[in-house]
Amino acid sequence: MWDSNADLLARVDKTKLPRHVAIIMDGNGRWANVRGLLRSAGHTAGVKTLKQILKTAVNLKLEALTVYAFSTENWKRPHTEVDFLMHLFSDYLEREKQEMHANNVRIKFLGRTEDFSPALQNLMRESVELMKNNTGVKFNVAADYGGQDEIVRAAQKISRRVQAGELSPENISAQIFADELDTAGQPPVDLLIRTGDEMRLSNFLLWQTAYAEFWFTETPWPEFTPEEFVDALIDFGKRSRRFGALKN
Ligand code: IPE
Ligand code: IPE
Ligand code: MG
Repeated sequence: MWDSNADLLARVDKTKLPRHVAIIMDGNGRWANVRGLLRSAGHTAGVKTLKQILKTAVNLKLEALTVYAFSTENWKRPHTEVDFLMHLFSDYLEREKQEMHANNVRIKFLGRTEDFSPALQNLMRESVELMKNNTGVKFNVAADYGGQDEIVRAAQKISRRVQAGELSPENISAQIFADELDTAGQPPVDLLIRTGDEMRLSNFLLWQTAYAEFWFTETPWPEFTPEEFVDALIDFGKRSRRFGALKN
């Protein structure tokens, strides 16, 4: 099992934890640049951060953690960077899958998969299969993911059901729509964290963040720590969530 920092975990009021935390892991390239390193060194450092944050989520028994690893827009980056990210992604899965499994993590991938190499697609399928019966943290990795793309794909699936006569247009509800998204069956995002000093969604979880609380930090992802993660969780516990109603 993963070791845990008892002092850190003790700071958290477990009754006020979000069910679903989503993270835009941003700032790797800039972190590397200011140190005179290649952007790739920032991505490598970012993977280490991810491991620490996943461990913390496991130790806190969070229900779901979703991380933005590669967006549908990230294909616009230079080929060398895209290639590096693909290798990093497959190395990470290969290296970490057994340990995640031993910690009862259930991995899932959000997004398209068909543009990844056949070897990476296989590895993704194998990882999902390995952990499919686990009951711990739902760990969603958004890769080749875009919120608009996900919504369009859901609309296509629903249209096909309508065309097949299984569903009538007036019966399409928010629930039916949500059930066709990549996050089907998971709770909506309660807390969205973005590192790296940008305040935008960059096409992440557009539907699922409808009522999310937002937490932004200037800290670049390679420097984000379990302590700062816990700070965000504690801050979340102080928010007044009204969902359009009045405070009671
Ligand atoms: C986030 O860091 C990681 C990915 C998008 C894959 P960036 O690579 O965007 O780093 P910055 O924003 O350029 O610093
Ligand atoms: C969002 O970061 C995507 C990921 C973290 C994977 P970007 O760095 O790609 O976002 P923009 O370009 O600054 O909006
Ligand atoms: Mg960025």
